[in-house]
Amino acid sequence: MASLFGDENVMSNKQRGFHGIWRGRWTFILAATGSAVGLGNIWKFPYITGENGGGAFVLLYLLCILLVGVPVMMAEVMLGREGRRSPINTMRQLSHKYNAPRWFAGIGWMGAITGFLILSFYSVIAGWTLSYIIDLGAGVFTQASGELAEQTFNELVSSPGKQLAIHSIFMLMTATVLGLGIHKGLENSVRFLMPSLFFMLIVLLGYALTTPGFTEGWKFLFTFDRDKITAGSVVVALGHSFFTLSLGMGAIMAYGAYMPEKASIGKTVLMVAVLDTLTALGAGLIIFPIVFSHGLEPSAGPGLLFQAMPIALGSLPGGSFVGALFFILVLVAAWTSAISIAEPAIAWATEKGISRVASTLSVCGFAWVLGIGTILSFSDWKDITFLGLNFFDFIDYITSNIMMPLGGLLIAVFAGWLVSKEAIAKEIRLKNPTHLKLWRFVLRYISPLAILVIFAHGLGWLSFLGI
Ligand code: TRP
Repeated sequence: MASLFGDENVMSNKQRGFHGIWRGRWTFILAATGSAVGLGNIWKFPYITGENGGGAFVLLYLLCILLVGVPVMMAEVMLGREGRRSPINTMRQLSHKYNAPRWFAGIGWMGAITGFLILSFYSVIAGWTLSYIIDLGAGVFTQASGELAEQTFNELVSSPGKQLAIHSIFMLMTATVLGLGIHKGLENSVRFLMPSLFFMLIVLLGYALTTPGFTEGWKFLFTFDRDKITAGSVVVALGHSFFTLSLGMGAIMAYGAYMPEKASIGKTVLMVAVLDTLTALGAGLIIFPIVFSHGLEPSAGPGLLFQAMPIALGSLPGGSFVGALFFILVLVAAWTSAISIAEPAIAWATEKGISRVASTLSVCGFAWVLGIGTILSFSDWKDITFLGLNFFDFIDYITSNIMMPLGGLLIAVFAGWLVSKEAIAKEIRLKNPTHLKLWRFVLRYISPLAILVIFAHGLGWLSFLGI
Protein backbone atom coordinates (compact mmCIF):
# COMPACT_ATOMS: atom_id res chain seq x y z
CA MET A 1 0.00 0.00 0.00
CA ALA A 2 1.35 3.37 -0.91
CA SER A 3 1.75 5.52 2.17
CA LEU A 4 0.51 9.04 2.52
CA PHE A 5 4.01 10.28 2.07
CA GLY A 6 4.65 8.54 -1.20
CA ASP A 7 5.84 5.01 -1.66
CA GLU A 8 8.73 4.55 0.75
CA ASN A 9 9.39 1.06 -0.51
CA VAL A 10 10.63 2.37 -3.78
CA MET A 11 14.15 3.48 -3.15
CA SER A 12 15.49 6.38 -5.11
CA ASN A 13 18.38 5.81 -7.46
CA LYS A 14 20.49 7.77 -4.99
CA GLN A 15 19.88 5.21 -2.26
CA ARG A 16 20.12 2.13 -4.43
CA GLY A 17 22.94 3.26 -6.63
CA PHE A 18 23.50 2.12 -10.16
CA HIS A 19 25.74 -0.81 -9.33
CA GLY A 20 24.53 -1.62 -5.82
CA ILE A 21 25.50 -0.41 -2.36
CA TRP A 22 27.94 -1.93 0.13
CA ARG A 23 26.20 -3.88 2.88
CA GLY A 24 27.44 -1.41 5.48
CA ARG A 25 29.95 1.24 6.44
CA TRP A 26 32.47 -1.39 7.41
CA THR A 27 32.44 -2.96 4.00
CA PHE A 28 33.43 0.38 2.56
CA ILE A 29 36.16 0.71 5.17
CA LEU A 30 37.53 -2.73 4.35
CA ALA A 31 37.37 -2.18 0.60
CA ALA A 32 38.99 1.26 0.75
CA THR A 33 41.63 0.01 3.17
CA GLY A 34 42.20 -2.90 0.82
CA SER A 35 42.84 -0.41 -1.95
CA ALA A 36 45.07 1.76 0.20
CA VAL A 37 47.16 -1.01 1.75
CA GLY A 38 49.56 -2.20 -0.90
CA LEU A 39 53.20 -2.31 -1.86
CA GLY A 40 53.38 1.34 -0.81
CA ASN A 41 52.77 0.34 2.80
CA ILE A 42 54.86 -2.77 2.85
CA TRP A 43 58.12 -1.65 1.34
CA LYS A 44 57.95 2.03 0.58
CA PHE A 45 56.72 3.48 3.85
CA PRO A 46 59.10 1.61 6.18
CA TYR A 47 62.02 2.47 4.00
CA ILE A 48 61.37 6.17 3.52
CA THR A 49 60.69 6.47 7.22
CA GLY A 50 64.04 5.03 8.14
CA GLU A 51 65.80 7.26 5.63
CA ASN A 52 64.06 10.47 6.56
CA GLY A 53 64.41 10.71 10.28
CA GLY A 54 62.32 7.91 11.81
CA GLY A 55 59.91 9.23 14.42
CA ALA A 56 60.24 12.80 13.16
CA PHE A 57 59.22 11.62 9.68
CA VAL A 58 56.30 9.61 11.08
CA LEU A 59 54.99 12.84 12.64
CA LEU A 60 55.47 14.74 9.40
CA TYR A 61 53.73 11.98 7.48
CA LEU A 62 50.77 12.01 9.88
CA LEU A 63 50.47 15.73 9.34
CA CYS A 64 50.42 15.23 5.57
CA ILE A 65 47.80 12.49 5.91
CA LEU A 66 45.64 14.93 7.85
CA LEU A 67 46.25 17.92 5.58
CA VAL A 68 46.25 16.29 2.16
CA GLY A 69 45.30 12.62 2.38
CA VAL A 70 42.15 12.75 4.47
CA PRO A 71 40.62 15.92 2.93
CA VAL A 72 41.18 14.74 -0.65
CA MET A 73 39.93 11.26 0.17
CA MET A 74 36.79 12.77 1.69
CA ALA A 75 36.33 14.77 -1.51
CA GLU A 76 36.65 11.66 -3.67
CA VAL A 77 34.16 9.72 -1.57
CA MET A 78 31.78 12.67 -1.52
CA LEU A 79 31.81 13.06 -5.32
CA GLY A 80 31.45 9.31 -5.80
CA ARG A 81 28.48 9.05 -3.47
CA GLU A 82 26.79 12.01 -5.02
CA GLY A 83 27.13 10.61 -8.53
CA ARG A 84 26.60 6.93 -7.66
CA ARG A 85 28.18 5.91 -10.97
CA SER A 86 31.59 5.19 -12.42
CA PRO A 87 33.99 8.13 -11.98
CA ILE A 88 33.62 8.92 -15.70
CA ASN A 89 29.85 9.33 -15.57
CA THR A 90 29.91 10.79 -12.06
CA MET A 91 32.25 13.56 -13.15
CA ARG A 92 30.31 14.13 -16.34
CA GLN A 93 27.07 14.46 -14.39
CA LEU A 94 28.50 16.60 -11.61
CA SER A 95 30.40 18.99 -13.86
CA HIS A 96 27.11 19.62 -15.63
CA LYS A 97 25.26 20.05 -12.35
CA TYR A 98 27.75 22.52 -10.93
CA ASN A 99 28.34 24.38 -14.20
CA ALA A 100 31.99 23.46 -14.22
CA PRO A 101 34.02 23.72 -17.41
CA ARG A 102 33.31 20.59 -19.40
CA TRP A 103 36.85 19.31 -19.28
CA PHE A 104 36.44 18.58 -15.58
CA ALA A 105 34.56 15.52 -16.77
CA GLY A 106 37.97 14.40 -18.01
CA ILE A 107 38.99 13.60 -14.41
CA GLY A 108 37.04 10.37 -14.71
CA TRP A 109 38.57 9.47 -18.04
CA MET A 110 42.07 10.15 -16.90
CA GLY A 111 41.47 8.09 -13.76
CA ALA A 112 40.18 5.08 -15.67
CA ILE A 113 43.12 5.21 -18.09
CA THR A 114 45.58 5.67 -15.22
CA GLY A 115 44.09 2.63 -13.49
CA PHE A 116 44.36 0.57 -16.61
CA LEU A 117 48.04 1.51 -17.02
CA ILE A 118 48.87 0.91 -13.35
CA LEU A 119 47.11 -2.46 -13.37
CA SER A 120 49.32 -3.63 -16.24
CA PHE A 121 52.53 -3.40 -14.25
CA TYR A 122 51.07 -3.90 -10.77
CA SER A 123 50.04 -7.39 -11.83
CA VAL A 124 53.57 -8.25 -12.94
CA ILE A 125 55.17 -7.10 -9.68
CA ALA A 126 52.44 -8.73 -7.59
CA GLY A 127 53.01 -11.90 -9.58
CA TRP A 128 56.58 -12.04 -8.26
CA THR A 129 55.18 -12.64 -4.77
CA LEU A 130 53.60 -15.86 -6.06
CA SER A 131 56.99 -17.12 -7.10
CA TYR A 132 58.44 -16.21 -3.68
CA ILE A 133 55.61 -17.89 -1.79
CA ILE A 134 56.43 -21.12 -3.60
CA ASP A 135 60.23 -20.77 -3.23
CA LEU A 136 60.12 -19.85 0.44
CA GLY A 137 57.56 -22.51 1.24
CA ALA A 138 59.80 -25.06 -0.47
CA GLY A 139 62.73 -23.95 1.66
CA VAL A 140 64.84 -22.64 -1.23
CA PHE A 141 66.23 -19.86 0.92
CA THR A 142 67.15 -21.90 3.99
CA GLN A 143 70.62 -20.70 4.94
CA ALA A 144 70.77 -18.84 1.65
CA SER A 145 73.59 -16.51 0.85
CA GLY A 146 73.25 -13.03 -0.57
CA GLU A 147 74.34 -14.33 -3.96
CA LEU A 148 71.60 -16.91 -4.07
CA ALA A 149 68.95 -14.30 -3.29
CA GLU A 150 70.31 -12.01 -5.95
CA GLN A 151 70.55 -14.85 -8.43
CA THR A 152 66.98 -15.99 -7.73
CA PHE A 153 65.69 -12.48 -8.23
CA ASN A 154 67.66 -11.91 -11.42
CA GLU A 155 66.60 -15.27 -12.76
CA LEU A 156 62.97 -14.39 -12.17
CA VAL A 157 63.05 -10.98 -13.80
CA SER A 158 65.06 -12.19 -16.76
CA SER A 159 62.69 -15.07 -17.45
CA PRO A 160 59.75 -13.77 -19.50
CA GLY A 161 58.06 -17.18 -19.53
CA LYS A 162 57.95 -17.56 -15.77
CA GLN A 163 56.84 -13.98 -15.28
CA LEU A 164 54.14 -14.33 -17.89
CA ALA A 165 52.78 -17.35 -16.03
CA ILE A 166 52.58 -15.59 -12.66
CA HIS A 167 51.35 -12.33 -14.20
CA SER A 168 48.55 -14.35 -15.80
CA ILE A 169 47.64 -16.08 -12.53
CA PHE A 170 47.50 -12.78 -10.65
CA MET A 171 45.43 -11.11 -13.36
CA LEU A 172 43.04 -14.06 -13.31
CA MET A 173 42.68 -13.79 -9.52
CA THR A 174 41.90 -10.10 -9.90
CA ALA A 175 39.48 -10.64 -12.79
CA THR A 176 37.62 -13.39 -10.91
CA VAL A 177 36.76 -11.06 -8.04
CA LEU A 178 35.88 -8.20 -10.37
CA GLY A 179 33.81 -10.36 -12.69
CA LEU A 180 31.65 -11.61 -9.81
CA GLY A 181 30.47 -8.03 -9.22
CA ILE A 182 30.14 -5.70 -6.26
CA HIS A 183 28.42 -8.07 -3.85
CA LYS A 184 29.57 -11.58 -4.71
CA GLY A 185 33.02 -10.47 -5.77
CA LEU A 186 34.32 -7.30 -4.15
CA GLU A 187 32.30 -7.37 -0.97
CA ASN A 188 32.81 -11.03 -0.16
CA SER A 189 36.49 -10.94 -0.99
CA VAL A 190 37.38 -7.91 1.13
CA ARG A 191 35.31 -9.20 4.02
CA PHE A 192 37.46 -12.29 4.04
CA LEU A 193 40.80 -10.98 2.78
CA MET A 194 41.18 -7.88 4.94
CA PRO A 195 40.67 -9.63 8.31
CA SER A 196 43.08 -12.33 7.08
CA LEU A 197 45.58 -9.63 6.21
CA PHE A 198 45.35 -8.07 9.67
CA PHE A 199 45.64 -11.50 11.26
CA MET A 200 48.79 -12.33 9.28
CA LEU A 201 50.20 -8.93 10.17
CA ILE A 202 49.72 -9.63 13.88
CA VAL A 203 51.20 -13.14 13.67
CA LEU A 204 54.23 -11.81 11.81
CA LEU A 205 54.62 -8.95 14.28
CA GLY A 206 54.62 -11.47 17.11
CA TYR A 207 57.37 -13.33 15.30
CA ALA A 208 59.41 -10.19 14.63
CA LEU A 209 59.20 -9.39 18.33
CA THR A 210 61.10 -12.59 19.13
CA THR A 211 63.96 -11.85 16.71
CA PRO A 212 67.22 -10.40 18.03
CA GLY A 213 66.98 -7.42 15.68
CA PHE A 214 63.72 -6.09 17.09
CA THR A 215 65.20 -3.25 19.12
CA GLU A 216 67.39 -2.18 16.24
CA GLY A 217 64.41 -2.27 13.87
CA TRP A 218 62.33 -0.26 16.31
CA LYS A 219 65.09 2.30 16.61
CA PHE A 220 65.54 2.56 12.84
CA LEU A 221 61.85 3.27 12.45
CA PHE A 222 61.14 5.47 15.44
CA THR A 223 64.26 7.28 16.61
CA PHE A 224 63.27 10.92 16.49
CA ASP A 225 65.95 12.45 14.30
CA ARG A 226 65.00 16.00 13.51
CA ASP A 227 68.16 16.72 11.56
CA LYS A 228 67.12 14.32 8.84
CA ILE A 229 63.98 16.34 8.07
CA THR A 230 64.73 18.40 4.98
CA ALA A 231 62.68 20.04 2.23
CA GLY A 232 63.14 16.75 0.38
CA SER A 233 61.56 14.71 3.17
CA VAL A 234 58.58 17.03 3.26
CA VAL A 235 57.95 16.30 -0.42
CA VAL A 236 58.44 12.59 0.16
CA ALA A 237 55.90 12.65 3.01
CA LEU A 238 53.44 14.65 0.93
CA GLY A 239 53.74 12.40 -2.09
CA HIS A 240 53.44 9.29 -0.02
CA SER A 241 50.37 10.45 1.90
CA PHE A 242 48.70 10.81 -1.46
CA PHE A 243 49.92 7.56 -2.99
CA THR A 244 49.29 5.38 0.04
CA LEU A 245 45.61 6.34 0.18
CA SER A 246 45.18 5.51 -3.55
CA LEU A 247 44.08 9.05 -4.36
CA GLY A 248 43.83 10.87 -7.66
CA MET A 249 42.62 8.21 -10.04
CA GLY A 250 39.04 7.59 -9.06
CA ALA A 251 39.52 4.25 -7.28
CA ILE A 252 38.19 5.73 -4.06
CA MET A 253 35.54 7.67 -5.97
CA ALA A 254 34.31 4.41 -7.49
CA TYR A 255 34.11 2.81 -4.05
CA GLY A 256 32.42 5.94 -2.69
CA ALA A 257 29.67 5.40 -5.25
CA TYR A 258 28.72 2.21 -3.41
CA MET A 259 28.80 3.77 0.05
CA PRO A 260 25.58 3.70 2.09
CA GLU A 261 23.77 7.01 2.21
CA LYS A 262 23.77 7.23 5.98
CA ALA A 263 27.47 6.55 6.63
CA SER A 264 29.52 9.51 7.81
CA ILE A 265 32.20 10.34 5.29
CA GLY A 266 34.55 12.05 7.75
CA LYS A 267 34.62 9.28 10.33
CA THR A 268 34.84 6.54 7.72
CA VAL A 269 37.73 8.12 5.85
CA LEU A 270 39.59 8.76 9.08
CA MET A 271 39.24 5.09 9.95
CA VAL A 272 40.71 4.09 6.58
CA ALA A 273 43.64 6.46 7.10
CA VAL A 274 44.27 5.06 10.59
CA LEU A 275 44.17 1.44 9.39
CA ASP A 276 46.44 2.25 6.45
CA THR A 277 48.99 3.96 8.71
CA LEU A 278 48.90 1.16 11.28
CA THR A 279 49.54 -1.39 8.55
CA ALA A 280 52.48 0.61 7.26
CA LEU A 281 54.01 0.91 10.74
CA GLY A 282 53.31 -2.78 11.39
CA ALA A 283 55.03 -3.74 8.14
CA GLY A 284 58.10 -1.72 9.17
CA LEU A 285 58.17 -3.46 12.53
CA ILE A 286 58.14 -6.81 10.76
CA ILE A 287 60.65 -6.10 8.01
CA PHE A 288 63.44 -4.24 9.82
CA PRO A 289 63.85 -6.55 12.83
CA ILE A 290 64.02 -9.51 10.45
CA VAL A 291 66.49 -7.80 8.11
CA PHE A 292 68.65 -6.53 11.01
CA SER A 293 68.63 -9.92 12.72
CA HIS A 294 70.61 -11.15 9.77
CA GLY A 295 72.96 -8.19 9.90
CA LEU A 296 71.76 -6.86 6.56
CA GLU A 297 71.49 -3.23 5.54
CA PRO A 298 68.02 -1.98 4.72
CA SER A 299 67.97 -1.18 1.01
CA ALA A 300 65.37 0.51 -1.11
CA GLY A 301 62.85 -0.85 -3.53
CA PRO A 302 62.49 -4.35 -4.80
CA GLY A 303 65.84 -5.21 -3.22
CA LEU A 304 64.46 -4.89 0.31
CA LEU A 305 61.42 -7.00 -0.30
CA PHE A 306 62.67 -9.55 -2.78
CA GLN A 307 66.31 -9.97 -1.80
CA ALA A 308 67.02 -8.91 1.78
CA MET A 309 63.85 -10.41 3.26
CA PRO A 310 64.25 -13.88 1.72
CA ILE A 311 67.89 -14.17 2.86
CA ALA A 312 67.12 -12.94 6.35
CA LEU A 313 64.13 -15.26 6.65
CA GLY A 314 66.06 -18.24 5.41
CA SER A 315 68.42 -18.09 8.37
CA LEU A 316 65.78 -17.66 11.04
CA PRO A 317 63.97 -20.47 12.86
CA GLY A 318 60.73 -21.28 11.09
CA GLY A 319 61.82 -18.95 8.31
CA SER A 320 60.26 -20.95 5.47
CA PHE A 321 56.85 -20.84 7.03
CA VAL A 322 57.12 -17.23 8.18
CA GLY A 323 58.53 -16.26 4.80
CA ALA A 324 55.70 -17.87 2.88
CA LEU A 325 53.21 -16.18 5.23
CA PHE A 326 54.92 -12.83 4.72
CA PHE A 327 54.68 -13.08 0.95
CA ILE A 328 51.06 -14.21 1.19
CA LEU A 329 50.49 -10.97 3.11
CA VAL A 330 52.11 -8.98 0.32
CA LEU A 331 50.04 -10.88 -2.25
CA VAL A 332 46.75 -10.18 -0.45
CA ALA A 333 47.65 -6.51 -0.06
CA ALA A 334 48.41 -6.24 -3.77
CA TRP A 335 45.31 -8.23 -4.74
CA THR A 336 42.83 -5.98 -2.93
CA SER A 337 44.62 -2.94 -4.43
CA ALA A 338 44.52 -4.34 -7.96
CA ILE A 339 40.77 -4.87 -7.68
CA SER A 340 40.21 -1.19 -6.94
CA ILE A 341 42.57 -0.08 -9.69
CA ALA A 342 40.37 -1.72 -12.33
CA GLU A 343 36.97 -0.88 -10.85
CA PRO A 344 36.53 2.63 -12.38
CA ALA A 345 37.02 1.35 -15.95
CA ILE A 346 34.87 -1.73 -15.40
CA ALA A 347 32.04 0.24 -13.78
CA TRP A 348 32.07 2.59 -16.76
CA ALA A 349 31.90 -0.25 -19.28
CA THR A 350 28.93 -1.84 -17.48
CA GLU A 351 27.14 1.52 -17.60
CA LYS A 352 27.52 1.31 -21.36
CA GLY A 353 25.40 -1.83 -21.23
CA ILE A 354 28.24 -4.33 -21.44
CA SER A 355 27.90 -7.21 -18.98
CA ARG A 356 30.08 -7.22 -15.88
CA VAL A 357 31.94 -10.32 -17.05
CA ALA A 358 32.63 -8.94 -20.54
CA SER A 359 33.73 -5.58 -19.10
CA THR A 360 36.09 -7.31 -16.69
CA LEU A 361 37.52 -9.52 -19.40
CA SER A 362 38.17 -6.54 -21.67
CA VAL A 363 39.79 -4.30 -19.04
CA CYS A 364 41.86 -7.06 -17.44
CA GLY A 365 42.61 -8.59 -20.83
CA PHE A 366 44.05 -5.40 -22.29
CA ALA A 367 45.97 -4.68 -19.09
CA TRP A 368 47.35 -8.21 -19.25
CA VAL A 369 48.61 -7.63 -22.79
CA LEU A 370 50.16 -4.30 -21.81
CA GLY A 371 51.80 -6.03 -18.85
CA ILE A 372 53.84 -8.08 -21.28
CA GLY A 373 55.68 -4.84 -22.09
CA THR A 374 56.64 -4.53 -18.42
CA ILE A 375 57.82 -8.12 -18.32
CA LEU A 376 59.99 -7.60 -21.38
CA SER A 377 61.40 -4.34 -20.07
CA PHE A 378 63.34 -6.38 -17.50
CA SER A 379 64.89 -8.53 -20.22
CA ASP A 380 64.62 -8.26 -24.02
CA TRP A 381 63.39 -4.66 -24.06
CA LYS A 382 65.75 -3.47 -21.34
CA ASP A 383 67.60 -1.15 -23.67
CA ILE A 384 64.63 0.21 -25.54
CA THR A 385 64.05 3.55 -23.88
CA PHE A 386 61.96 6.63 -24.35
CA LEU A 387 63.12 9.83 -22.62
CA GLY A 388 65.68 7.65 -20.89
CA LEU A 389 63.04 5.37 -19.39
CA ASN A 390 62.26 1.80 -20.36
CA PHE A 391 58.68 0.64 -20.87
CA PHE A 392 57.97 -0.15 -17.22
CA ASP A 393 59.71 2.93 -15.85
CA PHE A 394 57.89 5.12 -18.34
CA ILE A 395 54.42 3.85 -17.43
CA ASP A 396 55.28 4.05 -13.74
CA TYR A 397 56.59 7.59 -14.19
CA ILE A 398 53.67 9.06 -16.10
CA THR A 399 51.07 7.45 -13.84
CA SER A 400 52.65 8.17 -10.43
CA ASN A 401 54.27 11.50 -11.19
CA ILE A 402 51.90 13.08 -13.64
CA MET A 403 48.47 11.51 -13.97
CA MET A 404 47.74 10.72 -10.31
CA PRO A 405 48.78 14.11 -8.87
CA LEU A 406 46.99 15.90 -11.71
CA GLY A 407 43.83 13.91 -11.04
CA GLY A 408 44.10 14.67 -7.31
CA LEU A 409 44.60 18.36 -7.96
CA LEU A 410 41.54 18.54 -10.21
CA ILE A 411 39.46 16.59 -7.70
CA ALA A 412 40.45 18.96 -4.87
CA VAL A 413 39.74 22.02 -7.00
CA PHE A 414 36.43 20.64 -8.22
CA ALA A 415 35.17 19.64 -4.77
CA GLY A 416 36.58 22.72 -3.06
CA TRP A 417 35.69 25.44 -5.56
CA LEU A 418 32.93 24.22 -7.81
CA VAL A 419 30.63 22.06 -5.72
CA SER A 420 28.14 24.28 -3.92
CA LYS A 421 28.42 24.82 -0.18
CA GLU A 422 24.92 23.44 0.30
CA ALA A 423 25.66 20.24 -1.57
CA ILE A 424 28.82 19.80 0.48
CA ALA A 425 26.98 20.33 3.74
CA LYS A 426 24.40 17.76 2.65
CA GLU A 427 26.91 15.07 1.70
CA ILE A 428 29.55 15.59 4.33
CA ARG A 429 27.27 16.26 7.30
CA LEU A 430 30.03 16.97 9.79
CA LYS A 431 28.18 17.67 13.02
CA ASN A 432 30.46 20.49 14.01
CA PRO A 433 30.15 23.43 11.55
CA THR A 434 33.70 24.51 12.33
CA HIS A 435 34.98 21.13 11.14
CA LEU A 436 33.10 21.58 7.88
CA LYS A 437 34.53 25.03 7.34
CA LEU A 438 37.99 23.84 8.19
CA TRP A 439 37.74 20.92 5.79
CA ARG A 440 36.57 23.16 2.96
CA PHE A 441 39.34 25.63 3.67
CA VAL A 442 42.00 22.93 3.60
CA LEU A 443 40.56 21.47 0.41
CA ARG A 444 40.47 24.85 -1.32
CA TYR A 445 43.87 26.18 -0.37
CA ILE A 446 46.17 23.74 1.35
CA SER A 447 45.58 20.49 -0.53
CA PRO A 448 45.92 21.96 -4.05
CA LEU A 449 49.08 23.76 -3.04
CA ALA A 450 50.54 20.62 -1.51
CA ILE A 451 49.66 18.59 -4.60
CA LEU A 452 51.27 21.25 -6.80
CA VAL A 453 54.46 20.78 -4.81
CA ILE A 454 54.33 17.00 -5.35
CA PHE A 455 53.66 17.57 -9.03
CA ALA A 456 56.49 20.06 -9.47
CA HIS A 457 58.84 17.72 -7.65
CA GLY A 458 57.81 14.77 -9.83
CA LEU A 459 58.62 16.79 -12.93
CA GLY A 460 61.98 17.80 -11.53
CA TRP A 461 61.02 21.46 -11.26
CA LEU A 462 62.20 21.73 -7.67
CA SER A 463 65.76 20.78 -8.43
CA PHE A 464 66.83 24.37 -7.77
CA LEU A 465 65.98 23.68 -4.12
CA GLY A 466 68.31 20.75 -4.22
CA ILE A 467 65.44 18.20 -4.02
N1 TRP B 1 47.76 2.76 -2.27
C1 TRP B 1 48.52 1.73 -2.89
C2 TRP B 1 49.71 1.38 -2.00
O1 TRP B 1 49.93 1.95 -0.97
C3 TRP B 1 49.02 2.09 -4.24
C4 TRP B 1 48.08 2.82 -5.12
C5 TRP B 1 48.25 4.04 -5.61
C6 TRP B 1 46.84 2.39 -5.59
N2 TRP B 1 47.18 4.41 -6.35
C7 TRP B 1 46.29 3.43 -6.36
C8 TRP B 1 46.12 1.25 -5.40
C9 TRP B 1 45.05 3.35 -6.91
C10 TRP B 1 44.86 1.15 -5.96
C11 TRP B 1 44.34 2.20 -6.71
O2 TRP B 1 50.46 0.52 -2.37
